[in-house]
Amino acid sequence: MLQKPYDTSAPIHALFAQRYSGVCFDPQRPVPPELLLSVAEAARWAPSCNGDEPWRFLICNKATTPAAWDKAFACLMEGNQAWCRHAPVLVIICTDTRFTHNDNPNRFGPYDCGAAALSLCLQATAHGLMTHQMGGFLPAKTQESFAIPERYQPLAMMALGYQLPESEFPAQWRERETKPRQRRPLGAQFFAGEWGKGL
Ligand SMILES: Cc1cc2nc3c(=O)[nH]c(=O)nc-3n(C[C@H](O)[C@H](O)[C@H](O)COP(=O)(O)O)c2cc1C
Repeated sequence: MLQKPYDTSAPIHALFAQRYSGVCFDPQRPVPPELLLSVAEAARWAPSCNGDEPWRFLICNKATTPAAWDKAFACLMEGNQAWCRHAPVLVIICTDTRFTHNDNPNRFGPYDCGAAALSLCLQATAHGLMTHQMGGFLPAKTQESFAIPERYQPLAMMALGYQLPESEFPAQWRERETKPRQRRPLGAQFFAGEWGKGL
């Protein structure tokens, strides 16, 4: 995967710096099944409130479950479809809205699913794969198309696959794919003991 320039204000593990949400997926390179299992396994070991593991990942692999991939693709917003058409795998991330042990509402479900999703992303980065999460999809259509039971809520989708070699980035996506990663200054959002006091 292309190494984008990044400028961290303290040293971090390369995995965090190297992951980014690209759009130039290689349609010719399917994701090997053992790597799909590996990224799912990484998500499985995410922390969760009360150890409830509220996440459910619907993995739609163009190579092995093409009808599911087509259905998932149809649930994306147009802006995402424009680049997602070449992503070999589309993932739908859902949360259980209730705790397993007592059936009470689980307000931490989306928090836990985010942790699991990022675990998947980072394991994918370690395998040289690219991920791109998306909120631009149609949750109601997704729920209906995949007959997702009502207590589970689709939260996000994700594209997963190998990136094209840099020389093959389509002209329309090149700038977006190569622009440097940026974040707000650390002290603007990380506070030292009192609200607003930058670390
Ligand atoms: C919950 C969530 C929803 C997102 N929705 C979209 C989306 O619909 N379309 C898109 O192109 N990127 C989407 N993104 C990607 C973000 O724009 C991206 O993560 C952010 O700009 C930071 O860039 P980076 O992931 O390369 O570090 C989403 C990311 C998250 C976590």
